Amino acid sequence: MIVLKSPREIEKMKKAGELLASVHKEIAKMITPGITTWEIEEFVDSYLKQHGATPEQKGYKGYKYATCASVNDEICHGFPRKEPLKQGDIVTIDMVVNLDGALADSAWSYPVGTVTEETSRLLDVTKEALYKGIEQAKVGNRIGDIGYAIQTYVEEEGFSVVRDFIGHGIGASIHEKPDVPHYGLPGKGPRIKEGMVFTIEPMVNVGAYQKKMDSNGWTARTVDGKYSAQYEHTIAITKEGPIILTSQEDNERQSV
Ligand code: MF3
Ligand code: CO
Repeated sequence: MIVLKSPREIEKMKKAGELLASVHKEIAKMITPGITTWEIEEFVDSYLKQHGATPEQKGYKGYKYATCASVNDEICHGFPRKEPLKQGDIVTIDMVVNLDGALADSAWSYPVGTVTEETSRLLDVTKEALYKGIEQAKVGNRIGDIGYAIQTYVEEEGFSVVRDFIGHGIGASIHEKPDVPHYGLPGKGPRIKEGMVFTIEPMVNVGAYQKKMDSNGWTARTVDGKYSAQYEHTIAITKEGPIILTSQEDNERQSV
């Protein structure tokens, strides 16, 4: 069942989203060779507390941390750790903020120092893929239109789209209906309706799209060891079009 949200509920989720966006803006300033994802984890934990919010991922299905921190070939659900990031790495920080019971979810990939041209293109294409998906998230379209737009664009650029992790409805809990794959066919899947709130969160790989799981049972990484990036927003569907609840404003593509 897809739960539609009222304008009041969406307004509350937007408050959570604005706080989450401000966390990402702070993280962007912290990322530099030598920092650890453990320091970022501790920062996020205390920043959310200071702002009257809680990290929803902590304790979710037994996950222990406020953030997921996925480095280089890690696709998602990397654990924050005390190993310093190095020049040329990329790291995706993903978190869910709970502010007065309203949730917002957003992941962002960051380059560490100077990265190769291929890596920098991976980041650009993955971010643009997110906006290509958001553009399709309008009343009357179907969920399949989102995945089709993302997959077509990413594959034209010579990269691949992860299949095993997808976007999702979000509301009272992190994962609700609808499922939002980042691949698929136009005109398929549920019709997009006013009041839906869901994430779009393409994970894009330089090489093959397949994943393998670490023995920790959480972390997924690419089978070929090549890099993977991810950008994720929580969006709300209105009659006027999609609203990005986790928008970082000046860091966004200007035409959405
Ligand atoms: N933020 C993740 C998502 O985009 C959810 C992480 S689940 C957790 O779907 F258990 F790792 F927290
Ligand atoms: Co997320």
